[in-house]
Amino acid sequence: MKKMSENLLNIIKFGFKSPENFRVLAGKAVERFFDEKGSLSKEENLKWIKKNCSDYSEIFRNINNKLWEESLKCASELKLKANNVLPEIGYDLGGGGIYPVLYFLTKLKKPNRIFETGVAAGFSSQMFLKAIYENGQGILYSSDLLYFRLAEPQKYVGILVEERFKKNWKLFIKGDEINIPKIKKEIGKIDIFHYDSDKSYRGRAFAVKQLEKLFNAGAVIIFDDIQDNSHFYDYLRKKQIDKFHIFEFENKYAGVIGDL
Ligand SMILES: C[S@@+](CC[C@H](N)C(=O)[O-])C[C@H]1O[C@@H](n2cnc3c(N)ncnc32)[C@H](O)[C@@H]1O
Repeated sequence: MKKMSENLLNIIKFGFKSPENFRVLAGKAVERFFDEKGSLSKEENLKWIKKNCSDYSEIFRNINNKLWEESLKCASELKLKANNVLPEIGYDLGGGGIYPVLYFLTKLKKPNRIFETGVAAGFSSQMFLKAIYENGQGILYSSDLLYFRLAEPQKYVGILVEERFKKNWKLFIKGDEINIPKIKKEIGKIDIFHYDSDKSYRGRAFAVKQLEKLFNAGAVIIFDDIQDNSHFYDYLRKKQIDKFHIFEFENKYAGVIGDL
């Protein structure tokens, strides 16, 4: 009960800090009740996902077995660190997006520009940045919205990211609606896009509409949590994309578009 009223107080404080914050909060509230409906129900979507899901470790082993082993090792080191660091916070920041794959693809493709939405504790950011550091090239742009339920959320965003990697990181924390138009102006072309922030249909559609013109010809596009609604399914159909993958990771599903 005490925690609930603390959370509520933090949300109210956040909302009244600036008109921008108030707009973000109002948008979230509206989305919760009036999100766009996709073409499939949740059950139909999940059925389609399961039918199209494949074993990513087999795919990546075939592409580069040594690199895949290295990716798994980095992922388990990060998991170990997270298991030590995150329980201390006393608030669940959530798990990470499909991070062994993010490291693998970044090492494999050596991208110049990566754009991710959704940072939280920073599993995905750490893995992208570690790979960028080892590649010796690339910048990661991240769009997040601080957890406004927490009293000092800025202390926790990307808490898993190592200091030595941060020189290749541009972090924006005002929410996709505000961050994406800003990032768009400076990023140029995007080689890897990872969507893992606002899980609503509308949020996903907004990000893609804003950014798709910036995707490089060989770009890899990854959507996390595609089981939440049929945005991924609808996007494939709308763009007539038939080359895609679906991977299961920690009981959730990621959709991937592009050549691996
Ligand atoms: C699932 S977590 C991201 C996990 C992260 N990719 C990782 O691998 O550790 C989702 C994050 O998206 C943020 N978020 C939610 N709505 C958002 C929005 N409208 N714009 C930007 N970030 C948002 C949340 O605050 C949270 O930090």
